[in-house]
Amino acid sequence: AHRPLIAPSILSADFARLGEEIHAIAGDGPARADWVHVDVMDNHFVPNLTLGLPVVQSLLKTTDIPLDCHLMIEDPDRWAIGYAEAGAYNVTVHVEAAADPVMLAKNLRAAGAKAGLSIKPGTPLEDHVETLKHYDTLLVMSVEPGFGGQSFIPDVLEKVRTARRLVDTGHLKLVVEIDGGINADTIEQAAEAGVDCFVAGSAVYGAEDPGKAVAALRERAAR
Ligand code: DX5
Ligand code: ZN
Repeated sequence: AHRPLIAPSILSADFARLGEEIHAIAGDGPARADWVHVDVMDNHFVPNLTLGLPVVQSLLKTTDIPLDCHLMIEDPDRWAIGYAEAGAYNVTVHVEAAADPVMLAKNLRAAGAKAGLSIKPGTPLEDHVETLKHYDTLLVMSVEPGFGGQSFIPDVLEKVRTARRLVDTGHLKLVVEIDGGINADTIEQAAEAGVDCFVAGSAVYGAEDPGKAVAALRERAAR
């Protein structure tokens, strides 16, 4: 039983007030987010367009909370390094998009960031276990990437259980992270399956008080 990490996704925040929205989850105690999850989308890897490096550089100046950048983009081999060099804490790329994910992880770590690998709901974990030896975080998608507010896909919990087993038996050393449809109703089953870090967008920023929502999710994820 260890402390769950909560990573609110600013995809569901008001993009005209991003600084204030981050400050709303930067209070003290259990209401304080552990990581801020930043969804970078390029309109090619996913059918949606959000923000990129210039915005991330500004966010880095506005908060001390580590930024967890989730790159839903094509050609991450080319673009991911910029986020690491800018000072993002963790930079996650999609295994479906990366040409050389092992080299990419090495480059991210050399630039001072944690290296994250994400897998879409339909992507098997088994094919990528060797690759994951080079990574620090595994982001299991529990919705199709692209939009907030979708329903949790419980089938992906099998991949979480497999990842948890590989970590607990010492075969991998990873923070197991889940992203998509996490709310007060779904977070317990994810925690039960072995998730370490919970991304939540609409459940945090759709709430009256985002800080309270973080504390409530943390409470329910405690295992
Ligand atoms: C979706 C993004 C998620 C999104 C989750 O592609 O990767 O981070 O913000 O939103 P919710 O928590 O509303 O499913
Ligand atoms: Zn995300």
